[in-house]
Amino acid sequence: MTTVVVIPGDGVGPEVTDQAVHVLATLGLGLDLDVLDQVNADRFLRTGVAMTDDEMERARSAGAVLFGAVGDPKVPDPSYARDVLLRLRFELDLYVNHRPAALLADRLSPLRDPALRALDCVVVRENTEGAYAGVGGVLREHTPYELALDGDISTAYGVTRVLEYAFAIARRSVCLVDKANAVPFGGGLWQRRWSEVSAAHPDVGTSHLYVDAAAMRLIQNPTAFDVIVTNNSYGDILSDVTAALAGGPGTAASANLNPRHGVGLFEPVHGSAPDIAGTGRANPVGSVLSAALLLDHLGHGAEADALRAAVRATVAAGTCTPDLGGESSTKEVGAAITAEVG
Ligand code: NAD
Ligand code: IPM
Ligand code: MN
Repeated sequence: MTTVVVIPGDGVGPEVTDQAVHVLATLGLGLDLDVLDQVNADRFLRTGVAMTDDEMERARSAGAVLFGAVGDPKVPDPSYARDVLLRLRFELDLYVNHRPAALLADRLSPLRDPALRALDCVVVRENTEGAYAGVGGVLREHTPYELALDGDISTAYGVTRVLEYAFAIARRSVCLVDKANAVPFGGGLWQRRWSEVSAAHPDVGTSHLYVDAAAMRLIQNPTAFDVIVTNNSYGDILSDVTAALAGGPGTAASANLNPRHGVGLFEPVHGSAPDIAGTGRANPVGSVLSAALLLDHLGHGAEADALRAAVRATVAAGTCTPDLGGESSTKEVGAAITAEVG
């Protein structure tokens, strides 16, 4: 039996994850759920523990992790999110953050021109290096002369493997996004690895954009993109842009993967949304679509497709949370998706 570790986390995390778990349960795939509901900001505040080694090992030995969100206004300390989410990404070596975005319903596009709305792309975000690596330090802290340094790490090994993933999933083309005009060393490394890996895939179209231009181009013509490959920080930002173009922050899903080994981590792109937590209005679609990616990962492609179709049908029928212009609650949307799947 395949074990799925569930980490609901904070804020709207448990609210949306509950719905994804319900939908998964109705599929009758015999998944064994191991819910780590102690991984949250309250325990961190009480004990200083973000995630125990035992919890980490349970995630490591699972088939997949379904993750909600971490973050709480009561915990300004960035080590909390780092010690949960980034620890999972880094220690499980989940070097790909695969963030697909496809327009969920025409009326949800923020774009004026209908011809340009049909976004259907994947942001492939490098997920274990870059400015997230935690390399750096601070000098003369709490003085007017304070100096802080966060190293932006790129390795040939790390860049090559994420570029190879981007080409492996491309349907038409891959666009490299960087800032090599201003960030010379890492930019140069990405450019050199790009030349080599793209030359090995002559059948795939290629383009290159600096990240500022890429952000603009995504808004001007999202249909121009198939796969976007980029570093950790730019991928974080651009995948919020693509989420907004596809339907909004409540709709975007992601898969944190290492295609060379077993466990993957699946989570909505959004955070704990403290502004709406506890109101019953959080959109569960991003979490449910993340569960679909989890099913793909576990080899249940037909069920994953059924889940995606059920989400589209539910949105098309107007059963939506307020962020999508509806009046339904998180639970009502979850129930409607479950009914569609059933
Ligand atoms: P956020 O994604 O939590 O919220 C941004 C906006 O999107 C808010 O207006 C929120 O109401 C809305 N939104 C988010 N999810 C929604 C949903 N399911 N349905 C409807 N609306 C939704 O980003 P933020 O406000 O920058 O961050 C809040 C906290 O979450 C911070 O602590 C941050 O560090 C954390 N965070 C965690 C993750 C994660 O765990 N993967 C991701 C992003 C942010
Ligand atoms: C995301 C989030 C995280 C990130 C935060 C919570 C560390 O924004 O998954 O996109 O930046 O990776
Ligand atoms: Mn983000």
